[in-house]
Amino acid sequence: MEALKQKIIDEGKVLSDTVLKVDSFVNHQMDPVLMKQIGEEFAERFKGMGITKVLTIESSGIGPALMTALEMGVPMIFARKRKSLTLTDGLITATVRSFTKQETNEITISRDFITEGDNVLIIDDFLAVGQAALGLIEIVKQAGANPVGVGIVIEKSFQDGHRTVKETGVKLESLAKIASLENGKVQFVNEGDQQ
Ligand code: G4P
Repeated sequence: MEALKQKIIDEGKVLSDTVLKVDSFVNHQMDPVLMKQIGEEFAERFKGMGITKVLTIESSGIGPALMTALEMGVPMIFARKRKSLTLTDGLITATVRSFTKQETNEITISRDFITEGDNVLIIDDFLAVGQAALGLIEIVKQAGANPVGVGIVIEKSFQDGHRTVKETGVKLESLAKIASLENGKVQFVNEGDQQ
């Protein structure tokens, strides 16, 4: 997706060989025009799959997931990382280990909003090691629903997440694929490259 790649080139900051800072349009301030385009792009890439719900994880996944759900005409649910005051009964949980942050989170959704027979599209902002995506796939399965797709805004293709998600057999679409962040430079995966 060219508009997204250009935004990464213009505003992304390479913090290290493994971390890209995009807090001016994804992780802190969000760019609504770009988010709308992202929603349209995901809706196009996952059309005809009978998707009934979009699922993400708080917080930065919510922007792109909501725009995708709007475009597809279905509800969006976000998994919580912290316990909610009102969300107490009928919970589905999975454990997600963050390698970047060295912490473990219990992620949670209510049984009320993803049910048997739902076809669920999972959306997230970053794909790094893939533990968040795996946790969300696990939650969908526990609900008796079908994880039919994983849509990622920025994939770091040099980390394990791409392979991990592919191994589940769920269709994976990433809008910007980064091959390397070495020497302070963002290098995208060549469109023609097989992955
Ligand atoms: P995973 O998401 O693939 O399982 O990988 P990991 O455990 O390493 O990611 C932990 C958190 O760090 C996630 O956000 C993920 O989106 C974010 N992250 C990973 N790599 C990068 C990167 O290169 N740049 C940026 N900006 N973020 C990265 P989170 O803790 O869920 O945060 P948030 O959604 O609440 O903002």
